[in-house]
Amino acid sequence: MKLILLGPPGAGKGTQAKMLMDRFGIPQISTGDILRAAVKEGTPMGVKAKSHMDAGGLVPDEVVVGIVRERLQKSDCVKGFILDGFPRTLPQADALNESLVELGKDLDAVVSLEVDVEALVERLTGRRTCRDCGRGYHIKFDPPAVEGKCDVCAGVLFQRDDDQEETIRRRLDVYNDQTSPLVAYYRDADVLVVIDGMQEMKVVQDQILKSLQAD
Ligand code: AP5
Ligand code: MG
Ligand code: ZN
Repeated sequence: MKLILLGPPGAGKGTQAKMLMDRFGIPQISTGDILRAAVKEGTPMGVKAKSHMDAGGLVPDEVVVGIVRERLQKSDCVKGFILDGFPRTLPQADALNESLVELGKDLDAVVSLEVDVEALVERLTGRRTCRDCGRGYHIKFDPPAVEGKCDVCAGVLFQRDDDQEETIRRRLDVYNDQTSPLVAYYRDADVLVVIDGMQEMKVVQDQILKSLQAD
């Protein structure tokens, strides 16, 4: 299964990707997670990416295209992959097509998650993530059993630096300007599946799975 999860910040790409990863036994490739790990490690790429990410803007295309090109060649992608947060611009989508042709792979589907703006802001301001295992939570929609503590590994939960309201709104503008044209791009390529992302996580998951079976 070779999938792209498309959608604005907070649409549930990461949440759905993790469920699909378990279900299909294929990796989630989140450029946001890879970039955050590079920032944390202080690699040259991380240092370059940090200012863009903190401002809610996009990291330059050549950086993320290079990350994904390398990642897709790893052996765990043989059975498939779930791209989460990539591509995000038309040049990134074109570069992905080139990589897929080189690798002899075709996309099965591009799942676009649609969510209202105010719901996105509420989701992102309430998001918490486990520092140790990366499990995502929401203080209202998916709270941990003990406040501030991961149910799975008891790790400390943190809030992402870019989940402050002002930065969230900037990320949403960037999505509308630079990423939303990809919906038409993939509709034209006849691989687009639109899912109402306003529903509960489990319902969204079921609808994604159903749409993939129907393919
Ligand atoms: P990235 O990490 O990709 O962030 P994003 O696209 O802004 O998306 P999010 O991770 O914020 O949201 P999500 O859709 O994964 O939602 P989640 O499942 O967590 O990118 C970060 C930055 O890195 C970018 O701004 C950019 O600078 C850089 N970057 C990354 N990729 C790049 C690229 N390709 N090109 C250039 N730059 C790039 O859910 C959110 C919350 O809602 C959670 O708390 C969750 O529990 C809750 N929730 C989920 N689903 C539901 C539901 N159905 N109902 C209620 N609550 C829900
Ligand atoms: Mg995410
Ligand atoms: Zn954890």
